Amino acid sequence: MKKIGILTSGGDCQGLNPALRGLAKALYERLGDVELYGFADGYRGLIENDCKLMHHDDFSHILTQGGTILGTSRQPFKLMRTAENEPGDKVEAMKRTYREMGLDALAILGGNGTHKTANLLWEEGLNIVTLPKTIDNDLWGTDVTFGFHSALNVATNVIDCIRTTATSHGRIFIVEIMGHKVGWLALYAGLAGGADIILLPEIPYSVEEVAKALKPKTRLGKSARTYSIIAVAEGAMTREYAAMGKKERKKHDAAHPCPSKAYALAEELRKYTQQEIRVCVPGHIQRGGSPVPFDRALSTRLGAAAAELIREEKYGYMVAVRGEAILPVPLGEVAGKLKYVPVDCDAVRCARDIGICLGD
Ligand code: F6P
Repeated sequence: MKKIGILTSGGDCQGLNPALRGLAKALYERLGDVELYGFADGYRGLIENDCKLMHHDDFSHILTQGGTILGTSRQPFKLMRTAENEPGDKVEAMKRTYREMGLDALAILGGNGTHKTANLLWEEGLNIVTLPKTIDNDLWGTDVTFGFHSALNVATNVIDCIRTTATSHGRIFIVEIMGHKVGWLALYAGLAGGADIILLPEIPYSVEEVAKALKPKTRLGKSARTYSIIAVAEGAMTREYAAMGKKERKKHDAAHPCPSKAYALAEELRKYTQQEIRVCVPGHIQRGGSPVPFDRALSTRLGAAAAELIREEKYGYMVAVRGEAILPVPLGEVAGKLKYVPVDCDAVRCARDIGICLGD
């Protein structure tokens, strides 16, 4: 009989439960004689040996549920290890739990930070298989992560809703889309929602260029364009800010406290326009609600593919999407790398081609 541990780690997203379901169903189906142990709150459960034996029923009726039935938490990679011979090393604690429980393998569902720790555990001798989750779609080695399409759906709906009120009032609306380091979500939501301006972490912007792209408020009958919508990624930055070093940025942030980048941009833009500006920050709403059908199907496929790797005892891999296929990618190739938006990619070019301002 095989004993398999499962955990979901890092920020949650809408495809986690369908992925757990796909993984569990395929393991029960293909392995038959298998016990699944769910660890609570990601690596925390593995560190503290907080887990429970799961049953078939636990994975029923969760296909359409957002969040994760196992719970999740952020356990920063840099805090995993303590100095040699110091007590409290989390990696040693996780290895101890794995060995004491007699696990044959561990399936880990997570994003970037999670993959660094997963790779470390693999290098330390545990049998690891991972699944790529994150609304940011920034995991190296896979075309797409589950959660991205659901978050994109929410973010696009937000822009759609904002458009009607922006039109009525003839206002400038800045919609802040999640993505600190990488702008896939802002780029796609901006395209799907018909934003006039899209600002990404990968393309530092000039406030002046953004101001130039705003549509002026005109009298009824003169022009249909009396409002502007700016989709700005959480991590978008001005050219000046991008050029600063770490210390300089810290100083700048302390001198200009602002709830977020969207509010900072609104402040800057007020110097250039008399038009009313409003900010909308949907925040974690983007990670909530039911997964869209694409994510339900993708998560199920990735779950089943991970189960197959476990059946074959092929460890040290993340199941990844490449075109129409699902393939195993070595964890060493994935860990510690981000999939940025290439500044010359087709979607960016398309945005420019249709007249969207990218702030540069
Ligand atoms: O990694 C997913 C993500 O939603 C990012 O887009 C966002 O910057 C971050 O998590 C927010 O993290 P937290 O949920 O810890 O506030």
